[in-house]
Amino acid sequence: MKISINTSFDTTTLLERYGPWALIIGASHGTGSAAAHQLAAEGINCVLLARNESALDELSQELQQRYGIDTRCIVADLSQPDSTNEALTRVEDLDIGLLIYNAGAPAYASDFIKAPLETWQNLIALGATSLTTICYHIAQKMVERGRGGILLMGSHAALGGNKKYALYTASKGFMLNFGESLWMELKDMGVDVLNFLILVVDTPTLRKQMRKSNVDGWDNDRIPGVYSPHDVMQKALQELPNGPTFLHPDDDEHESDFGSERRAALIERWSHTEPYVGDD
Ligand SMILES: NC(=O)c1ccc[n+]([C@@H]2O[C@H](COP(=O)([O-])OP(=O)(O)OC[C@H]3O[C@@H](n4cnc5c(N)ncnc54)[C@H](OP(=O)(O)O)[C@@H]3O)[C@@H](O)[C@H]2O)c1
Repeated sequence: MKISINTSFDTTTLLERYGPWALIIGASHGTGSAAAHQLAAEGINCVLLARNESALDELSQELQQRYGIDTRCIVADLSQPDSTNEALTRVEDLDIGLLIYNAGAPAYASDFIKAPLETWQNLIALGATSLTTICYHIAQKMVERGRGGILLMGSHAALGGNKKYALYTASKGFMLNFGESLWMELKDMGVDVLNFLILVVDTPTLRKQMRKSNVDGWDNDRIPGVYSPHDVMQKALQELPNGPTFLHPDDDEHESDFGSERRAALIERWSHTEPYVGDD
């Protein structure tokens, strides 16, 4: 099945712009698996990374059979730095044109001082340390080849703090500022960067959290007001060339101008400022 994505670039296809390989961090379900299907339908080969080996194997086989693409599965827990370095060695031989950093939801909500410190350290490792390490290596290669895309699946949680989500809001805030800086640095080098800030999307993680918190509707076929992973990912891929930031669903169909205001403010803020002179 061919999934049609109306990208905002007319002259090139997704494959030409972001192929031949995509690296999807957090591919085993939800938005990550939706991304794999949409990219595979466009002929892009996929590296699928997550912790659940059997889910990755099943997805990998489905993608190969339905779309005839190549896949590579990497079972890794990116809250563990060694695992991140090992994962990078597994993609060294591949020409990666697209990185989607999708993993990042918290294991659970809790008051900061009530959860084991390790819970928060793992979330920082996943949402900040591994994000940095992976972007560092992949972005360098994209700049060398003069082409690529980095899609950071963020959250409205990036916009401010919240009770029981101290480290989640902090990690998503890190991702937002990091991603906007990357956009400024890479936009003239052929590499697109987009922070896609999600409000709510129907993923197994969301349903698990709803069930744990006794929120009605967690087992309904459709949860009212919650977006499908397919629609969210389709929008994210469409908007990838229009970085640095897209607020979903508000910026859709121009209901708000958060993303364009953020872009204008970023350019204005830094256009008059010479960067500090460093060692390079
Ligand atoms: N769901 C929502 O309503 C919502 C709202 C706002 C923002 N977001 C953001 O959207 C993204 C996707 O959401 P989600 O609900 O699907 O989140 P998720 O629980 O982070 O899962 C996404 C993917 O990441 C993988 N993953 C999770 N932890 C990992 C780890 N330590 N190492 C490697 N892979 C890991 C998961 O598979 P495995 O379990 O197999 O590893 C899954 O494939 C997240 O960044 C989240 O913060 C979601």
